[in-house]
Amino acid sequence: MKALILVGGFGTRLRPLTLSVPKPLVDFANKPMILHQIEALKDVGVTEVVLAINYQPEVMLNFLKDFESKLGIKITCSRETEPLGTAGPLALARDKLIDGSGEPFFVLNSDVISEYPFAELIRFHKSRGSEATIMVTKVEEPSKYGVVVMEEETGKVDRFVEKPQMFVGNKINAGIYLLNPSVLDRIELKPTSIEKEVFPKIAADQKLYAMVLPGFWMDIGQPKDYIAGLRLYLEAVRRRKPYKLAVGPHIVGNVLVHESAVIGEGCLIGPDVAIGPGCVVEDGVRLSRCTVMRAARIKKHSCISSSIIGWHSTVGQWARVENMTILGEDVHVCDEVYSNGGVVLPHKEIKSSILKPAIVM
Ligand code: GDD
Ligand code: MG
Repeated sequence: MKALILVGGFGTRLRPLTLSVPKPLVDFANKPMILHQIEALKDVGVTEVVLAINYQPEVMLNFLKDFESKLGIKITCSRETEPLGTAGPLALARDKLIDGSGEPFFVLNSDVISEYPFAELIRFHKSRGSEATIMVTKVEEPSKYGVVVMEEETGKVDRFVEKPQMFVGNKINAGIYLLNPSVLDRIELKPTSIEKEVFPKIAADQKLYAMVLPGFWMDIGQPKDYIAGLRLYLEAVRRRKPYKLAVGPHIVGNVLVHESAVIGEGCLIGPDVAIGPGCVVEDGVRLSRCTVMRAARIKKHSCISSSIIGWHSTVGQWARVENMTILGEDVHVCDEVYSNGGVVLPHKEIKSSILKPAIVM
């Protein structure tokens, strides 16, 4: 089987992290977002993943070359010269997706995190004889997603409405699809939205089905959702692979610490923290609901909560970093500085406190 991952877009909502790498390469729970997806696809027998790219393709490909051999899966690239939206890239990659077997292929949005129940999706799709099956999940605030109105029992989709202005339902498109090759005959090679132009037509033909996604789901394309997504992800790790989580008197709740990270004495870490490879957390540090990315240094007695610390950054002694502070790559927060929701661009030094949420350029 094949899969296509939509990796276009500039990831503006995840700046400043996406100023350093394309969104799919931003680390989530200590590995690039896209690797979570590629590994899960490989597990259900996908042999080739096509990346539909329109932005920084070299960076992506260089990075993923290593993983092709490590994971034993073919990763190829389909390059757009202009952004083709969420459906156009499928038409562009048509020859890569059709292999003559008639088998359906996966399509994923690159910024969604879940337990990826792909095996269940294949079974559901085949049992319904659907042309296209989308995974759906319930959310409290459906207006920023694609909303699906479906028959509860069969899963047949009556309507698909992208970013509805008025309430139509709370089951939303999770950005994970299994499509028959015939869907490609419905898409022209031009900028096209699968949500606005393709799904509504398949639904009108009564051939679009939706499967309610078991387990957690989150679009982690915005800092607030990224931090919330980490909590859900770690909860799932606790249920399924608890041995991966850190243990000890200094740990509270679910915490992931990379084996190469060094943690000092007298720290209190958790809940819902990920500490990446090569990080150094000095003595007496307090961390909760945060991500500390590769090679960051958190100095003595600092306190970080509900924040993301980008690659190679440092947080000074006795500093306090909180309330959705996002430090880009290689940012240095000086000793005793306070950041309340500062969003700091890469390579900056922060010498004075950021008292209310603001972008620091
Ligand atoms: N190759 C390519 N080219 N990819 C693109 C392009 C493009 O021109 N535009 C967007 N993408 C990719 C994005 O990188 C992302 O992986 C995916 O398509 C969806 O785009 P987003 O910008 O993240 O859309 P969204 O989050 O507002 O809404 C989508 O996702 C929701 C779930 O998170 C829609 O699919 C909604 O229906 C859905 O509910
Ligand atoms: Mg998104």
